[in-house]
Amino acid sequence: MKILNTLLVGLVIGLTACTTDPNSPGVEYMPDMYRSPAIEAYVDYGQEPYEVGEEVARAQRNTPSSRKPVPGTIPFRGEDQLAFALPYAFGQTPEEYERAGLELSSPLVTNQANIEAGEKVYVAMCTQCHGTEGKGDGALSRNGHIAGIPSYSDKLKDLPEGKMYHTLTWGKGLMGSHASQLSQRQRWEVIEYIKVLQVGGEMPEFDENGMPLPAEATPETKEEPKAPAAPAMGMGGMADNTEF
Ligand code: HEC
Repeated sequence: MKILNTLLVGLVIGLTACTTDPNSPGVEYMPDMYRSPAIEAYVDYGQEPYEVGEEVARAQRNTPSSRKPVPGTIPFRGEDQLAFALPYAFGQTPEEYERAGLELSSPLVTNQANIEAGEKVYVAMCTQCHGTEGKGDGALSRNGHIAGIPSYSDKLKDLPEGKMYHTLTWGKGLMGSHASQLSQRQRWEVIEYIKVLQVGGEMPEFDENGMPLPAEATPETKEEPKAPAAPAMGMGGMADNTEF
């Protein structure tokens, strides 16, 4: 019995203290759990079990998704990107504003869906200054906080869409940039609605495909909306605007 005890103690001591290095962790059980290998993709480590082989690694490095894009290029992410996710090509100068007016046009179709989406943006983001009818008489204008907001159907009735987009992107005068609040698509959508406001704010009729029907171009119907709109503006919107 004594001999057995001595043997057992000897065995335990022998197993736990068989090294003289005080920093040694001793016998490790499942070392992978303490030291997980940090394997990089596309690299041949030349060791089991992670061996890839230089040939395979090189083939992997050569797939398009693992290559760096050519400097100055933009990764292509689908058709929609062509219209809505390219960097804005017009600088923040008066000359570039004029150029945008001549060269920049909307990628959107003028249809019911886009006009109505634009109206939603307009009501949420623009009426406080521009007013529900776009006459420049929103709450911030009426209470005198922001002066000189022009009416879309008067001073701005011929403003081209490129200039509108430029102003929404960079801001102009007292109107700040809306580039961080509105996506490029939303900016073009709200412009679709402003184009409606430019011609008096009357929503057009749409056909079954959502395309606007041409306004009845008879002289009487053309005159009709104009007649009530003009005096109303003279008393309301215009009076506000003439202060400057
Ligand atoms: C804080 C008030 C304010 C808000 C909010 C605002 N605007 Fe304006 N906006 C102005 C003022 C002021 C001007 C006149 C800028 C100038 O010509 O100096 C203006 C001008 C414009 C013009 C004419 C730009 C040009 O090129 O002459 C457009 C178009 C326009 N705003 C669209 C919008 C739209 C769309 C929204 C909502 C997304 C909006 N604005 C929100 C104050 C505002």
